[in-house]
Amino acid sequence: MTAFSADRSYAEAIDATDQLAPFRDRFVRHDFDLIYLNGNSLGPLPVRTQARIAEVVDQEWGVGLVRSWDKWIQLPRQAGDMLGEHVLGAGDGQVLVCDSVTVNLYKLAHAALGAQPGRDVIITDDDNFPTDRYVLEGVAAERNCELRLLHTDMDAGVDEKALLDALDERTALVSLSHVAYRSGALSDMPKLTQAAHSRGALMLWDLCHSAGSVPVELDDAGADLAIGCTYKYVCAGPGSPAFLYVRNELQHRLRQPIWGWFGQRDQFAMGPHYDPAPGLDSFMTGTPNIIGTVAVEEGARLIGEAGIEQLRAKSMALTSFLIALCNEWLAPLGFAVATPRDPARRGGHVTLRHDDAEQICAALTRASVIADYRAPDRIRLSPAPLTTSFTEVWEAIGQLRDITADKSYADIQTEESDVG
Ligand SMILES: Cc1ncc(COP(=O)(O)O)c(C=O)c1O
Repeated sequence: MTAFSADRSYAEAIDATDQLAPFRDRFVRHDFDLIYLNGNSLGPLPVRTQARIAEVVDQEWGVGLVRSWDKWIQLPRQAGDMLGEHVLGAGDGQVLVCDSVTVNLYKLAHAALGAQPGRDVIITDDDNFPTDRYVLEGVAAERNCELRLLHTDMDAGVDEKALLDALDERTALVSLSHVAYRSGALSDMPKLTQAAHSRGALMLWDLCHSAGSVPVELDDAGADLAIGCTYKYVCAGPGSPAFLYVRNELQHRLRQPIWGWFGQRDQFAMGPHYDPAPGLDSFMTGTPNIIGTVAVEEGARLIGEAGIEQLRAKSMALTSFLIALCNEWLAPLGFAVATPRDPARRGGHVTLRHDDAEQICAALTRASVIADYRAPDRIRLSPAPLTTSFTEVWEAIGQLRDITADKSYADIQTEESDVG
């Protein structure tokens, strides 16, 4: 690759050699002028997912009716194994697709505390995603434990030394996000997991912003537990089911708190008392969302086809290009990069800080560039390696420059409504 230039021709030259460019056609597109940089909130719709959902609805539901449960019943584990193989670095039988991230966090955090008698502290960080902090606060209150919040710099991510200082023999569980939702800062999973283990704590990772965007190696990192969503980089659609990971050796030690019939040993015996199924199945709760789960399978299959290492390489190149354009065009206009500049220390999105971020972000949407705003003054931009070209990044940052330079955002009244 030649040295960076802010000319459009530079972006076009990289696009011309991009091996992943053909994957653009694997996604549904309606508006060819739209630049979508918000896959970190909701991934776009793969063509094959659209077809597979239509088939499940028409044939499996429409024709097969209740008989289709014979094949559907396997799906949470089947989709979990596919995610394990292509996305999470987890061997078979450790990942389930079920429930929401919030519910899975509750199940796993509760179960982890139950498996750590004599320990009564949970550690997380004060910039972790709100649902993580709230659920952990609730679990701590329910189990009469202390929730220890590490102070975290909003842009730099979790401070390893702060974690080491906070760990002690009372710590039952450490729960952190692998990629910070606001800044995109990427934590060192093996190192922090090892730090938790060194004091006898279990380690639980929230992979919402890393699953499908950075290679995750749960087994190799020695992680105990993990949760994550599939509606961002796995492209399984709004409200698609989440996943959970429980390391093999822990599956028989942990008992999750939601005693539902899908976690029951002999489910259709309809017995009088709860008797959990052995192993991973006990982490199921109620009837799984089948349409969402087939979309997870398709998303995992697509990532497997492209290869997570190739996706990561292009993602780092896209975010580096974006940051280089920011340095050139946006820094003089009051923007600051609020994401680690070392590509190895960030996930799939770049966050920019500006005093008028909320209005500018709304003006970007008006100009057909979809990004998102996060309080207090941040814009998140997520160029997706499967669908975003370097030329689109060039155009989007050019729009950002022009909107800010001529203050064409000044008329905009804002009202926050984004999720994720
Ligand atoms: C890091 C993180 N955790 C959890 C969630 C949300 O969990 P749920 O799918 O239960 O709403 C999000 C949503 O964007 C997230 O970014």
